[in-house]
Amino acid sequence: MKKLLNIAILGATGAVGQEFIRLLEERNIPFNSLLLLASAKSAGKEIKVKGKPYVVEEAKPESFEGIDIALFAGGKISEILAPEAVKRGAVVIDNSSTFRMDPDVPLVIPEINAADIKKHKGIIANPNCSTIIMLMALKPIYDLSRIKRIVVSTYQAVSGAGKDGIDELFGEAEAQITGGKYVPQILPSAGLPKHYQIAYNLIPQIDVFLENDYTKEEMKMVHETHKIFHDKEIEITPTAVRVPVVRSHAESIYLETEEDLTKEAVQEAIKKFHGVELVDDIHNQIYPMPLDTSDKTNVAVGRIRKDLYHKKGINLWVCGDQIRKGAALNALQIAEYMIEHDMI
Ligand SMILES: NC(=O)c1ccc[n+]([C@@H]2O[C@H](COP(=O)([O-])OP(=O)(O)OC[C@H]3O[C@@H](n4cnc5c(N)ncnc54)[C@H](OP(=O)(O)O)[C@@H]3O)[C@@H](O)[C@H]2O)c1
Repeated sequence: MKKLLNIAILGATGAVGQEFIRLLEERNIPFNSLLLLASAKSAGKEIKVKGKPYVVEEAKPESFEGIDIALFAGGKISEILAPEAVKRGAVVIDNSSTFRMDPDVPLVIPEINAADIKKHKGIIANPNCSTIIMLMALKPIYDLSRIKRIVVSTYQAVSGAGKDGIDELFGEAEAQITGGKYVPQILPSAGLPKHYQIAYNLIPQIDVFLENDYTKEEMKMVHETHKIFHDKEIEITPTAVRVPVVRSHAESIYLETEEDLTKEAVQEAIKKFHGVELVDDIHNQIYPMPLDTSDKTNVAVGRIRKDLYHKKGINLWVCGDQIRKGAALNALQIAEYMIEHDMI
């Protein structure tokens, strides 16, 4: 019989932390104890899990004594607390970008590279949400024929910037309707000097700009794809855009394969791939949309069509709930894999 685990959720009051709690309830993951952690600001708050009240505690290094699995969704604090949790014997599954490109840290989407989990030394990184959604759609195609080139534009929901991103969209929309005033403070990125309205707008910047004129978010999609697919040769050109959608990222993807694939072969492969759903019936106006994929487990793929000029070029449209499969669910699937394979 598997042992009952002691689980900690760091960032339990945030967008991803709240989703962890929903998923623990929904997937009926058994645990011996559950510790909810956040910043000092939230200490003392009560959160119900499976009908039982839990009091949120301030996250400290000692919090992780006796913890088997620590699910991290607290942002930058991972840098300090993840090594502390590992020192105390916990396995950390981390949603921040802190350790993703560390060669000692597996970066895992269980449907794609679960085998990498066994190389962990205490920390396993969850990939960036846009990377997860893109690669879930691309893996079944990659398995038919290696992908040489990807041109991707993202349409990213405000909840990707956490609970403050959602508040900002709602606050601005309400101000527009009531004639009130709302000063943007979060988007495109909380730490930057300039902020722009997202309601009724699009912002072609997510995170900071780098030397090469791409944003950090865009370069995460490049580097993380290479690491997860174990293929550094894929040429990737990303553009990341914030859109006034509450939840679920969307992506327009153009790709070029080594072999010439038919649309039907691509559709068939997507249909068969676990965690991905084909939503592609243009004659009945059926295609993926963020409202339909919100709170859903599967990544939806549609608008599949051959390029007009390039024989080996294919276009697709993808939507997926970035808080669920793009963050909390993916991390929990890593935990479930480890439990299943007696790795914890
Ligand atoms: N939102 C997404 O779609 C998404 C997708 C993939 C990955 N991620 C990543 O997941 C992490 C969490 O994102 P989020 O969207 O859930 O953010 P969020 O809604 O802003 O929540 C942040 C959480 O972290 C806690 N926290 C902040 N600073 C802390 C500190 N110094 N010590 C302890 N706890 C602290 C907050 O506690 P308080 O409430 O007490 O402030 C809150 O519970 C980030 O690394 C983010 O990049 C997010």
